[in-house]
Amino acid sequence: MKAVVFKGIGKIGIEEVEEPRIQEPTDAIVRLTASAICGTDLHLVHGTLSGMKPGTILGHEGVGIVEQVGADVRNLKPGDRVVIPASICCGFCVYCRAGYQAQCDRANPHGPQAGTAFYGGPESSGPFHGLQAEKARIPFAPANLVKLPDEITDDDAILLSDVVPTGYFGAVLAEIKPGDTVAVFGCGPVGQFAIASARHFGADRIFAVDSVHSRLVAARAQGAEAIDFEKEHPVETIRRLTGGIGVDRVIDAVGVDACRAHAGPAEKEGERKAGQFAQELAFVAPERHGNGNWNAGDAPTQALRWEVECLAKAGSLGIIGVYPESLMVFPIGQAMNKNLTIKLGNCNHRKYIPLCLELIRSGALQPARIITQRQAFSSIIDAYHAFDRHEAGWIKVMLRPEPAATGTAATRRPAPLQLTKQRGTRGKAWVDPRANPDTGPSREASDSGLVSPLKNEILEDHARRYPEGDPAVRRKNPDRGELPTEEPVRPGIMRVFSRNPRRKRVRK
Ligand SMILES: NC(=O)c1ccc[n+]([C@@H]2O[C@H](COP(=O)([O-])OP(=O)(O)OC[C@H]3O[C@@H](n4cnc5c(N)ncnc54)[C@H](O)[C@@H]3O)[C@@H](O)[C@H]2O)c1
Ligand SMILES: [Zn+2]
Ligand SMILES: [Zn+2]
Repeated sequence: MKAVVFKGIGKIGIEEVEEPRIQEPTDAIVRLTASAICGTDLHLVHGTLSGMKPGTILGHEGVGIVEQVGADVRNLKPGDRVVIPASICCGFCVYCRAGYQAQCDRANPHGPQAGTAFYGGPESSGPFHGLQAEKARIPFAPANLVKLPDEITDDDAILLSDVVPTGYFGAVLAEIKPGDTVAVFGCGPVGQFAIASARHFGADRIFAVDSVHSRLVAARAQGAEAIDFEKEHPVETIRRLTGGIGVDRVIDAVGVDACRAHAGPAEKEGERKAGQFAQELAFVAPERHGNGNWNAGDAPTQALRWEVECLAKAGSLGIIGVYPESLMVFPIGQAMNKNLTIKLGNCNHRKYIPLCLELIRSGALQPARIITQRQAFSSIIDAYHAFDRHEAGWIKVMLRPEPAATGTAATRRPAPLQLTKQRGTRGKAWVDPRANPDTGPSREASDSGLVSPLKNEILEDHARRYPEGDPAVRRKNPDRGELPTEEPVRPGIMRVFSRNPRRKRVRK
């Protein structure tokens, strides 16, 4: 079968690998119908999350059909449609039963102290082969796999694997309560769901901080107040907009590949701390982004420093961005002197997936709206690069693990979307002609091309602001390798959460 394989830092490829087989009676084999690329995959490829074993299949997001089950799998049968939680748990240890599945005592073969077990991760996390493949072996299948009701589409379900529950977990960690003022740092897929979750928990104002314009536009479409840290100093701006107080809660959705500002009023401060950031990098990733074609961050603790600074006294910080064990720096003194509460960790995916699934069923959450690209397997490597470069409109990439009929990763660039106005649709509904129920990429094909008016807003806004292309993207890509970004940036499908009248606020 085909799979995306880690070959060394900065080197990944689509390879022919052996099919997985049942090894334990509690195993299941799942044939994947959808996978995705996560910011964590980028840390692994960059080497900022180190310890990957060459040959490991990447990816920890998956939806598929159970193909085979071991003798001790009694709650699933071949043919069942399931979502695979990104982290692996046993379901019966004391941690799993208490809802701390990411700290399961049994799933990690290195023992109870070894940390979270997950698919497609470093040696220390298993290693378990990942889900960017045609099939995968699922350990402890009765506890891990979550059956999907028919009305949950693959597009929604793939986001249940990791980013939706993680965004929700971020809001839980940050202790968001009705009326709170919140800042979400990082507006990638995880940040977008952190914003949605903050809203769900009743946050009043939400500031969204990033430097990628199209991601800030998506955050704004969710009602967040956007702050571009390369145009404004994020801490000064948040303080100014909150009467000097700061925010009650912060969610970090950035992680170790954080960047410092390379323009705007925060640039000087970044330059002054460049030496410290370089030292941090030397610890976390002595060997990183090997071939220069990747865009690892240059300031591992930049976001954390801003977050602590912009919090109000006695505020709380929820960190879901991933930081490696080798990172030893945190502004502890400042946090202590402000009486901050800090909670962090890997998401207990298995705990939150059923809950998030119900939110989707009720219409409160429409995660598929954040999928901006659906890529065939053959263009995965290109998709990795575009996602890594934060190309305009590349927010969440969904993958179809079936091998594509034509082309190779080396020769193909993700096909640009061709949008045409659909007859009979009201307002600005546009369709992607590829989204044909017969030929389209997934079972949701009939819906997969609908583009919100926001997509046009981004295109127009982007072209107006950056006739030469996004400066953030250009700056971060001194070496763009084989994928030039000079051509006009095409944002692809941009869909975000809509305010749903049926949405109920959870009040504590
Ligand atoms: N805790 C968990 O269980 C869990 C699960 C999934 C993902 N994650 C982590 O969440 C993080 C985000 O994931 P993603 O898929 O959205 O990744 P992503 O790389 O797409 O998004 C990160 C965003 O942070 C922005 N950023 C960089 N430096 C910044 C700074 N100084 N201030 C503000 N924003 C900054 C980037 O421009 C980018 O848009 C990653 O670290 C990922 O590993 C954690
Ligand atoms: Zn992830
Ligand atoms: Zn367990």
